[in-house]
Amino acid sequence: MTLERRGSLLLVEDDPAQRTLVADMLEAAGFSVLSADGVRGALPQLGVPDLVLVVSDFRLADGDGLALLGEVRARRPDLSFVLMTAYGSIQHAVEAVRAGADDYLAKPFERQSLLLAIDKALRNRALRAENRRLVDALGEREELVDLIGRAPAMQRLYRQIERLAPTEATVLVQGESGTGKELVARALHRLSRRAERAFVAVNCAAIPEGLVEAEFFGAERGAYTGAQAARAGHFEQAHGGTLFLDEIGELPLALQPKLLRVLQEGRVMRVGGSKETTVDVRVLAATNRDLAREVEAGRFREDLYWRLNVVSLQLPPLRERREDIPLLVEHFAARAARQHGLPQVAFPKSLMRALIDRAWTGNVRELGNTVERLLLLSDDGEPQLADLPDAPRRDAAPPFELPPEGIDWEAMEASLLRQALAQAQGQKKRAAGLLGLPYKAFLYRLEKHGLGS
Ligand SMILES: Nc1ncnc2c1ncn2[C@@H]1O[C@H](COP(=O)(O)OP(=O)(O)OP(=O)(O)O)[C@@H](O)[C@H]1O
Ligand SMILES: [Mg+2]
Repeated sequence: MTLERRGSLLLVEDDPAQRTLVADMLEAAGFSVLSADGVRGALPQLGVPDLVLVVSDFRLADGDGLALLGEVRARRPDLSFVLMTAYGSIQHAVEAVRAGADDYLAKPFERQSLLLAIDKALRNRALRAENRRLVDALGEREELVDLIGRAPAMQRLYRQIERLAPTEATVLVQGESGTGKELVARALHRLSRRAERAFVAVNCAAIPEGLVEAEFFGAERGAYTGAQAARAGHFEQAHGGTLFLDEIGELPLALQPKLLRVLQEGRVMRVGGSKETTVDVRVLAATNRDLAREVEAGRFREDLYWRLNVVSLQLPPLRERREDIPLLVEHFAARAARQHGLPQVAFPKSLMRALIDRAWTGNVRELGNTVERLLLLSDDGEPQLADLPDAPRRDAAPPFELPPEGIDWEAMEASLLRQALAQAQGQKKRAAGLLGLPYKAFLYRLEKHGLGS
């Protein structure tokens, strides 16, 4: 048989003649053979690093093979174990297999049977190791980069992100508002070889239509009124890195062919410019619209859709992974406590139950804001179920209706700030919570209206 080295093997046998005989067979098969005549002699050798297998007689100088098997399973569960039994004592063999031996051999045996039993035992061992590896790889994870969640849909998402991140593929991230599309785009960047370079996020919905081209591709000096200096567009800014086109569904139709050209050719020309610049940019895009339907409706170009949608990732809405809500609550509570210098507090069961059951149309973002608000209102105590605002009903009228003659916004803001402070008896964090404002934003507004002190 093969003479390549196959690792160390421990032979435990009380009869010296038998021990020499079997050891010779095993040496010839390529193993380094260690030996002992009993349990006490075997134990110290279990620590040998390249040990892969124990072959033991049933009857030993002290104790028996089953006792040794128990020790091996306790100390080195990764080792294969083959028990040799005297002819006619098959019940020992059955017991041994039940106790975790990989195989047994009835004495006397041929060299060939010995080697077959050993091969089988080593294959079992490899299989065990492979299964453990698979379980580890498929095992539940609670987070990836900044993404939190252990629901099956999130596990699938983590695996897709890890597979796609190192590639150059354009990825379209789809999902309802607040489901974490931007976090996914950032994770794809952070886990890519572009991680050290720029991540440029552009909200396509926020750029006035007339400026989109200059924003994307840059402009030369004097290209349009107000262009006093030449400036680089987002593609040039993202050179070497990643460009994240958020809300791509809002990109004006007129601009779509230009974007497609840049994606295909990897070159941009500034508005008012005359020469093209090559850019090395990986593009990621996100939308909360059903882009395929937008294509059908003629609002989105089909060719651009296919160019962006090389691979798509779909984010689950929060209501489809409610099991993650306690984990997310903990995460957002810790974050809010850090930001506002509040103590860490536990959420009472009744409140947690209500949070798990809510509709969460605004998904993870809404949950994050709600948790922050509950903490600010609780003001060092336990967050209260009573502070959870009633879930907005779909058909409910908005809480405030703009009168036809309009309003004085600044005056109204100042009035609301005063009312909130009064209701909260001057406790600013609580007042911010009543208005659903982050504490910093609240302080800024107080300052603006001269209500700060
Ligand atoms: N899985 C998550 N784990 C932790 N935080 C999350 C997760 N998903 C979303 N968030 C948080 O929720 C907020 C919204 O996430 P993000 O901006 O990525 O959502 P979005 O899908 O891009 O929303 P929109 O469509 O409204 O732009 C952020 O504060 C983000 O940190
Ligand atoms: Mg977003």
